[in-house]
Amino acid sequence: MLKDKTILLGITGGIAAYKSAELARLLIKEGAAVQVVMTANAEAFITPLTMRTLTGRPVYSSLFNPSYGSATVHIDLAREPHMVVVAPATANFLGKIAAGIADDLLSTVLLAVNLKERPVILAPSMNTVMFHNAAVRENIELLRKRGYIFADPLAGVLACGDVGEGRMVEPAQLLQLIKDKFPAREDYGGLTVLVTAGPTRELLDPVRFFSNHSSGRMGYALARAARERGARVLLISGPTALEPPPGVEFHPVVSAREMYDVVMDKLFLADVIIKTAAVADYRPEETYSQKIKKGGDLLVRLVRNPDILQELGSRKGNYILVGFAAETENLLNNAHKKLAAKNLDLIVANDLTEEGAGFTYETNKVNLLYRDGHVEELPLMTKYELAHLILERIKIII
Ligand code: PMT
Repeated sequence: MLKDKTILLGITGGIAAYKSAELARLLIKEGAAVQVVMTANAEAFITPLTMRTLTGRPVYSSLFNPSYGSATVHIDLAREPHMVVVAPATANFLGKIAAGIADDLLSTVLLAVNLKERPVILAPSMNTVMFHNAAVRENIELLRKRGYIFADPLAGVLACGDVGEGRMVEPAQLLQLIKDKFPAREDYGGLTVLVTAGPTRELLDPVRFFSNHSSGRMGYALARAARERGARVLLISGPTALEPPPGVEFHPVVSAREMYDVVMDKLFLADVIIKTAAVADYRPEETYSQKIKKGGDLLVRLVRNPDILQELGSRKGNYILVGFAAETENLLNNAHKKLAAKNLDLIVANDLTEEGAGFTYETNKVNLLYRDGHVEELPLMTKYELAHLILERIKIII
């Protein structure tokens, strides 16, 4: 399953470093290429020679080693892997990553990894009192919010003799977690998925517009995940600062009416439509070709935009239709109403009052509401993880 995947295995200085050798062996057995980066303290617990012999690759540990052949080895290492796993991750290392400190090769690589493109799993290992120290707890929570994935340590007898949480997960469990992050198969091969993403902008004059806080992250994560699972992907997006994921057919739009036109034009191609976009419900009735000059109060009359999802629901043919709901109150009630009114198969309900959920965050926390009335409450996770989970659920409906 891990064939053609490269995993960067970071090892920091804890007694559980010996487990990393077993993890590297298991990963290689699954077909992965393993690139090890060790801290100086890790070398006190396990030798680079052991890891080099197991992985068949040179082990990196220094920021400034001329023999590496690249002056930007930290960037090269951050770009190469499909996933980064730091096991064990010490309290000191977690603190550095949380604070953005980059004072050795591994911490610098972590800072250079784009979390939107590759997941990072951290497997803490430490004494139980250290694990429950307020500073460590806060660092872990902060890192989770930023999108890092934690392989939570186990409880048991620790190397120091204490009993409690802090023992690094076993290599076999870590391997399973790693495998779970890669889609098992190309289960969307032969299907076309249409995703709308981002905000729309409703122009008032050449310099002003009405819009919202959507960054496009949720929609782009869905487009990327669907592509990874083998789908043909049409991404219709309002203005965002994001790069379209590789391999998707990208259709940039600005206003709700432009989005409506492109969606209706491409509709016949789609097996699955996912409406993540935060479409402006209203636009100024009148737009101005010149910048409006300052004067007294300005009254702008807003008129309704077309409801794209409503239209898709009323025309519904053979496609699966998935909507999103962004709510600040009565989440489930409002989402249920939208599911029924817009004739959807599934609605993804964001509670905008939840920390880490909704607009702009790398993470999201949602409830999935199905046509049969079933509600699935999901924990906080990265938008990329959520994207795969939503696609898994849609596949069951198909
Ligand atoms: O882009 P991010 O920063 O990652 O944020 C993600 C998100 C919060 C934008 C996303 O998770 C989300 O909730 N998207 C839907 C936001 C929204 O517009 O919700 P709504 O409840 O107003 O609309 C309900 C549904 O109708 C949505 O699927 C929307 O795309 C659709 N709609 C709404 C209005 C309209 N005129 N046409 C539509 O198609």
